[in-house]
Amino acid sequence: MTKAKRMMQENLKLIDLIIELVDARVPIASRNPDIDELGKGKARIVLLNKSDLADPGSNQAWMRYFEERGIYALEVNSKSGFGIKSINGLVQKACAEKIERDRKRGILNRPVRAMVVGIPNVGKSTFINAFAGKACTKTGNKPGVTKGKQWIRLNKTLELLDTPGILWPKFEDNLVGMHLAFIGSMNDEIILMEELACDLLETLRKLYPEAVAKRYGISWEKDPDSRGMAGILEEIARGRKCFLKGESLDLKKAADLLVDDFRSGRLGRMTLERPQMSERAGRENKVELTPAKAGKGCNNE
Ligand code: G4P
Repeated sequence: MTKAKRMMQENLKLIDLIIELVDARVPIASRNPDIDELGKGKARIVLLNKSDLADPGSNQAWMRYFEERGIYALEVNSKSGFGIKSINGLVQKACAEKIERDRKRGILNRPVRAMVVGIPNVGKSTFINAFAGKACTKTGNKPGVTKGKQWIRLNKTLELLDTPGILWPKFEDNLVGMHLAFIGSMNDEIILMEELACDLLETLRKLYPEAVAKRYGISWEKDPDSRGMAGILEEIARGRKCFLKGESLDLKKAADLLVDDFRSGRLGRMTLERPQMSERAGRENKVELTPAKAGKGCNNE
């Protein structure tokens, strides 16, 4: 077992509630399903973070998806604070059983203890800052089992472990890696940007064709078979005047521009994964795009 997983297990012993952050644009690729096994018996909340960058209709659909699986879910924007105020109510609901158990045992006012978990870059630190704010106080070391741990007391009913649990994405499926690269959760230095841009174009052609066509003034229909996504990227480069010396196109610059427009939300609010994927795909963290399969990239064979 990895050190990170062991540490996660140790921390899980101390808490009642897991607050799992996922990226609302790719809620499956940005999860590690191991948390379902690791967190058995704990109350659960999933937060669709960066919901400001995702499709509002899909945010609703994903909340229903998690709730149907017994996990309370909420869309949030940790940067602006949207949705943060609703979390306390959700914590009470998610931990109702524990609170009732405590009450029956005569234990009153014992705060719920929670830990934030998620893959790198999903927004854990931003969320903790937004949720805990300035009003909170760090409670310092607690005696006994919690020795060495810092807890943030949010209010009388909730304490948060101050360091989030880091989950690693599962790359068993190529689409997972691709989706994480699209949102910027992989090291861009090891990615061929032109290829990533072509994969993104192929994906968006199926999901949000009008938004891309409108922003760059391109046409998907013109001779799509021979030109493929590389041809579309060239069209974007031409339209945005991405030239190297002379007349040749700077495709790297056009690729950077497209990917950055997507990541920042300038292309519009977009969700790349939909809950209609098969149960099996969900269990195995495999991602299926709807309505069609994933793109093939620049070659477009
Ligand atoms: P981590 O601890 O899980 O690794 O993630 P972290 O909080 O560092 O956030 C990663 C990036 O995601 C940051 O951007 C942060 O501002 C952004 N972010 C977090 N939550 C949201 C959200 O709800 N909506 C949007 N749009 N962005 C969010 P950055 O570019 O790395 O830093 P910065 O330039 O914003 O400071």
